[in-house]
Amino acid sequence: MSPLRNIQLTPQLVQAVRDAVDIVDIASEYTRLTKAGKRHKGLCPLHKEKTPSFSVEPDQGLFYCFGCGQGGDAIKLHQALSGDDFPAAIEALARRYGIPLPKASEPRRGRREPDLERVLEAAAGFFQGQLQESKRLLDYLERRKIPMELVERYGLGYAPEGWRNLVGAIGPRFPMTELEAAGLVSRSDKRPDEPYDRFRQRLMFPIRNAAGRLVGFGGRALGDDKAKYINTAETSRFQKGYLLYGLDVAKRAIRDQGRAFLVEGYFDVLGAAAAGIETCVASMGTALTPEQARLLKRFADEVMVGYDGDEAGEKAFRRALPTLLSEGLTVRRPAIPAGEDPDSLRRKQGEDALLELVVAAEDAVMLEIRRLVPDRVSGEPSRQAKAAKEVAELLKPIPDGILRYSYARVAADRLGVPVDLLWKRVGGDRSGGAPDEPKAAGKVVRSLEERVVQLLLASNLPLPPVAELPPEEAFLDADLRNIFETFCALYSEAGDSRPEVKAVLAKLGSQGKAVDQLARLLLQEPVAPAKGELQTSLASLKRRWQQQRLRELSTEISRAQSLGDTDRLERLLQDKNALSRELHGRDSGSGDHT
Ligand code: UTP
Ligand code: MN
Repeated sequence: MSPLRNIQLTPQLVQAVRDAVDIVDIASEYTRLTKAGKRHKGLCPLHKEKTPSFSVEPDQGLFYCFGCGQGGDAIKLHQALSGDDFPAAIEALARRYGIPLPKASEPRRGRREPDLERVLEAAAGFFQGQLQESKRLLDYLERRKIPMELVERYGLGYAPEGWRNLVGAIGPRFPMTELEAAGLVSRSDKRPDEPYDRFRQRLMFPIRNAAGRLVGFGGRALGDDKAKYINTAETSRFQKGYLLYGLDVAKRAIRDQGRAFLVEGYFDVLGAAAAGIETCVASMGTALTPEQARLLKRFADEVMVGYDGDEAGEKAFRRALPTLLSEGLTVRRPAIPAGEDPDSLRRKQGEDALLELVVAAEDAVMLEIRRLVPDRVSGEPSRQAKAAKEVAELLKPIPDGILRYSYARVAADRLGVPVDLLWKRVGGDRSGGAPDEPKAAGKVVRSLEERVVQLLLASNLPLPPVAELPPEEAFLDADLRNIFETFCALYSEAGDSRPEVKAVLAKLGSQGKAVDQLARLLLQEPVAPAKGELQTSLASLKRRWQQQRLRELSTEISRAQSLGDTDRLERLLQDKNALSRELHGRDSGSGDHT
């Protein structure tokens, strides 16, 4: 989501924010930290836990959770906790720490980008004010059993009957072009110079992003208007696919419970909230996007999908399932009866009925396996094959190999086929090997690289001169290579002193996996270096790279030989000799120990 205010994200601003933010301060807003040595520890604000595994290191400005494995710098923590995207995070933190914000960049036509959030907020205020004035709307809310407390919590309002109510009320305070850009007024072809209210005679739902910024409205018809809902027009600022209705209200509860209740409609959110379910968000009737699933994953590990109990709801659920599973979310599904949605169920059968369904919600993958593999299918080969194919498609998106394997076992049992067969179909263990035997070799290789980065950045072992450090290519892990590269750049700039972690972080930028990786490395375990360890680790890394390069050269040499490319062969042999000499020491020449 792009922020509404058009702040220019200059490197100076980002740097000023980095310098000003206090990670302890930010974390403390969401969890109680206690000091333990140089670090602060507490319950992780990013996932649900009972014993503290969240650690903050103020000097380095990093956090890491041993429970959920998330880590990074202060800006990333703020993003994860608030739902802000990077620009919004910079803006919010700048405001918080009193850093002056550069004026919005002048758009090409020389006009300033309007502050549409102010217009939207003014409109929301107007709609809210109208609500109390309208007996009709109050009756409607009562009929639909929406308590006033919820009306306030969700900021509901009323767009009155008539064509120029909003225009008349807030028009004088804002240029008409801004009302138009905010999607609050329309113009007809016949009378283009007479803008009129887009929302008329509707119950108004303000739609906010995860950070609580107002981005648009949904309006439900009160009369028998053909369009049941009208929403703010899709613009770069208002994209349903990036929003979940109600997330601003529900995110705290979702994080506390580690679970979200995902429904289709605005009214389902209200209905669930009325039944005491505080974790409800709506996809607003459109197909769930990967961005929405990612948004949920930021706050929850489990999603309960309470889509409408009709054919459209069923279809929407089947489309949403792989999207949710791909994000590593567990999915459960309450059995919403045919013809109902969560809100209508609540009204007809009572709040307890809805709560019971939610509590009894079953694992959605298990439900799907049962649906796709009917009983006694194993007696019919062609149906069996078809079912196997469908189950494989179902399980493929699940990123966790063990979980995928467990489901595959259940499904294979039902199908009456050996699990290996289905396991291959599902793509097997994508990290290589059987699910319960992680690739040992890969681990060892990586930990050497990790150790080097740790020692370079967070130990006080003396650093060798820049020129003696191994080349970047010695790192096989892209994130570690990235960190190393950044470290080297700063190290050679600084001359002889060790660059600070904060400087490396600033150069890496807030986004991307490298920062997480760094946080994990520096906070996960004490660095506790042994004397001379940096030198030996660097030497091993360099040797490993040289050996690999030698193998590559040998391959290239045989190719050049078979092609009869003598010039190239000559050069390759020289390279190989030089490398070989370096690797085995200048004077030994031969005597390969590898
Ligand atoms: P529903 O038709 O199920 O609406 O559409 P609802 O929220 O349950 O409302 P009631 O209870 O019938 O009054 C589900 C969602 O799809 C979007 C809205 O977000 C709605 O809440 N929708 C639906 C639209 O955006 N436009 C429409 O015309 C219809
Ligand atoms: Mn509905």
